[in-house]
Amino acid sequence: MPVKPVLRMGDARLLQHAEAVADFGGDELRVLLRDMRDTMQAFDGVGLAAPQIGVNLRVVIFGVAPPQHEQDRQNSRYPDAETVPETVLINPVITPLNDKAEQAWEGCLSIPGLRGLVPRFQHIRYQGYDESGALIDRTVSGFHARVVQHECDHLEGILYPARIQDITRFGYTEELFPEREARNDRID
Ligand code: NI
Repeated sequence: MPVKPVLRMGDARLLQHAEAVADFGGDELRVLLRDMRDTMQAFDGVGLAAPQIGVNLRVVIFGVAPPQHEQDRQNSRYPDAETVPETVLINPVITPLNDKAEQAWEGCLSIPGLRGLVPRFQHIRYQGYDESGALIDRTVSGFHARVVQHECDHLEGILYPARIQDITRFGYTEELFPEREARNDRID
């Protein structure tokens, strides 16, 4: 299984503006998506952006399947996450539909062990393409909207700590949530 190492904060490759995908039919994209899916699954992520595995292209994947069994739900890093459809999103464009923001806890596979309280637009439209080049155009809110904003930020070289407004709400998961596994854990 081609699980790739996930780059961690401090690696300059996470700070780049990613390049648009031009070729939808080729092996490069097919192999990239296979690697991204395997890597996301191996690390139990909700999403992953191509730059996180060192590929500077505007490709993100995300999705939260409903847990099949209660035990799976308990073991998940995101036990209370809403279901988000499994999505490949290429060359995305996000349009906020109003000014309303909401704060929620996020984590990131590139910043292991930490969580931060991050404001995101509540309600967005996003557009882009799937791996076959078919148009995706969705209007979403809440957790789904948050995941998309987090992943697409990676394509601009933005990691979630840059969005935190109250830096006292940033820290190690175990210290922030000593009583329990972070129930409001968010994102990749
Ligand atoms: Ni991330």
